[in-house]
Amino acid sequence: MLLIASHEGRTGVPRTVELLKGGAGGLEAIVEGIKLAEADLDIHSVGQSSWPNLLGELQLDAAVMDGNTRRTGAVGAVRGFKHPVAIAYAVMRRLDHEILVGEGAERFAAEIGAEKNKNETDHSARAWKTHMDETLTEEQKRRFPGISLLDVKGVARDPERPFDTTVYLCMDRQGGLATAVSTSGWAWKYPGRLGDSPIIGAGSYADSRYGACACTGLGEMAIRAGTARSVVLYLKLGYGLRDAVREAARDLADLKTGFLDEVTIHAITPAGEFFVLDVNPRRAVKFLMWKDSLPSAEVREAENFAPQEKSPPN
Ligand code: GLY
Repeated sequence: MLLIASHEGRTGVPRTVELLKGGAGGLEAIVEGIKLAEADLDIHSVGQSSWPNLLGELQLDAAVMDGNTRRTGAVGAVRGFKHPVAIAYAVMRRLDHEILVGEGAERFAAEIGAEKNKNETDHSARAWKTHMDETLTEEQKRRFPGISLLDVKGVARDPERPFDTTVYLCMDRQGGLATAVSTSGWAWKYPGRLGDSPIIGAGSYADSRYGACACTGLGEMAIRAGTARSVVLYLKLGYGLRDAVREAARDLADLKTGFLDEVTIHAITPAGEFFVLDVNPRRAVKFLMWKDSLPSAEVREAENFAPQEKSPPN
């Protein structure tokens, strides 16, 4: 058994470890762990009290993938529910679709009786107000929200980078691999923006035959490079784990235009190997690792991707 979780997911790791030790299926165990991170008011990149969009609303993204069946479930830009990851899991189990967004996702959540919640808190409202007070001109403040958000979209950044997406990857007692991810996405994002987290293949991917991968950091880059699927495909093509992750890191580092920043790639294999690599590092990125020889999870630090590993210019 093996569990890798980003540091933002720390709150739920003991629960996931307990479930895995008890023989639970991997996906069930990691969804339960992420639910605790979503409910933690002190983690500001996932669930309640996380970063609002430019209008001050919390629009949350989440996804799950079962590496045994390659079934997935994802939701994007969901408002007013406590556990987006549980809604994503229900999309997988109860629909013939793989992803729902916005009002449709909220309707589905209500129909399955998902727990409603006012995710906005004093912290998120204060953070948004302070940011907008500092960013908008007096004229824009007077007319808000009746202004063009295009004029302010350039400020979409997470104030606590790199403390962002909650990602869990695991191998359960039966050897099945699974991934689950949940996030508010970047602070002050344009309303309706989806990051890599609800896009299977970009922010996460699991195939019990070859490996699983999940990303944190700038989702726009992981979408453009198809990072999570790439890592698993490189594994399928015979790369070792470290080489597969490095090859996907090179794909990211080779992006020359657009919004570029940090991406951290987390990956595991069915042989019980793990590797976490930080591309365009800003500071040390931590993650949690548990395997069945350990009583509890350990905090580890991601390796940095060296700039000289980029491909030569074309
Ligand atoms: N990686 C999370 C996001 O970009 O939304």
